[in-house]
Amino acid sequence: MDFDLIVRGGTLDGRIADIGISGETIAAIEPNLPGTARSEIDAHGNLVSPPFVDPHFHMDATLSYGLPRINASGTLLEGISLWGELKPLLTHEAVRDRALAYCDWAVSMGLLAIRTHVDVCDDRLLAVEALLDVKKTIAPYIDLQLVAFPQDGFYRSPSARDNTLRALDMGVDVVGGIPHFERTMADGARSVTELCEIAAKRGLMVDLHCDETDDPLSRHIEQLACETQRLGLHGKVVGSHLTSMHSMDNYYVSKLLPLIAEAGVSAIPNPLINIMLQGRHDTFPKRRGLTRVKEMQALGIRVGWGQDCVLDPWYSLGTADMLDVAFMGLHVAQMSSPADMARCFDMVTNVNASIMGLDHLGLAVGKRASLVVLDAGNPIEALRLRAERICVIARGKVVAERTKQETRLSIGGRPPLVNRRHIAT
Ligand code: FE2
Repeated sequence: MDFDLIVRGGTLDGRIADIGISGETIAAIEPNLPGTARSEIDAHGNLVSPPFVDPHFHMDATLSYGLPRINASGTLLEGISLWGELKPLLTHEAVRDRALAYCDWAVSMGLLAIRTHVDVCDDRLLAVEALLDVKKTIAPYIDLQLVAFPQDGFYRSPSARDNTLRALDMGVDVVGGIPHFERTMADGARSVTELCEIAAKRGLMVDLHCDETDDPLSRHIEQLACETQRLGLHGKVVGSHLTSMHSMDNYYVSKLLPLIAEAGVSAIPNPLINIMLQGRHDTFPKRRGLTRVKEMQALGIRVGWGQDCVLDPWYSLGTADMLDVAFMGLHVAQMSSPADMARCFDMVTNVNASIMGLDHLGLAVGKRASLVVLDAGNPIEALRLRAERICVIARGKVVAERTKQETRLSIGGRPPLVNRRHIAT
């Protein structure tokens, strides 16, 4: 046998090629690959993609929708207080089991790398321990990064500072924060400085919930870019959400965006959640809850799409499908050109992997053999259909397969089966 597994005839980056897999690694990519394998997957006519990657999630809260009650106002702030009611009731087992159930959904959707924030404002650090367990359990098929996230404020919550450091000592990967939730703008700015210093000292990445508000004067992203520059953290820092930017003065933004680009700070908007949460104080016109995506990309700033929430105090829907996330982002950011639509697919695969520093992912010889076969001909069709994941391969092993779903019509005189795939002729 030349390979352990061959994926035959799939469409990759617009070309048709076979992928030969040896062990956990992509060993060859070429058309009509010679050789044999223990097993083969027929991907003719189907898009083969790198795995989906979610760079912003809350796995400690997922699948808790309705516990202990529903978010009646639908706002971010009620979500935070509702989560505060649930936190003392959490158990290690409940957090672990909900997270593992979610990870099963993720695998079925070809979502094989996730960065999750984990709340450290519970002195028990129970969720940190539970998610560190989960990380070990799912390591054979999902890359999980944890972010130490002081949900109630790094300074505003009395023990959050100590707990953040404890969580990092326990093995949490990334430094988190929430400057717009501190008591004052000054405290928020100070928290950005200290969190970046902690990361620089420990050689860690930074990912802050930053300016997730409709207040145009929430400008902590400016401080984040400044500290990134000062401490030489280029490429290791993320500003998540950045929703205040949609309301900022245009002249100010014309100065701000070059600072973000110069510092190499990446941005992760979360379109499903912020189109739902933001603008709740507006009458009409009502603001969109999304940062300036195309404008940042035009300056070379890395922008990914994050999912943020599934069935939790902030969001009542969700299926672990990054195509849903990209689909919503595409609409809200008006990324309708063919190049922009293709870019949206790239954002939930390659760009998100790059932001998380996952250099081993991607469809190239020598990369890890983790990939997805989709029931679509190209990335834009995959977005339009939120295409079925026919086969998911993680580290060289098939971890999920789905049979094609078909709808049989009975309307007479027409073909009996609906096929929503379409190639213009
Ligand atoms: Fe978040």
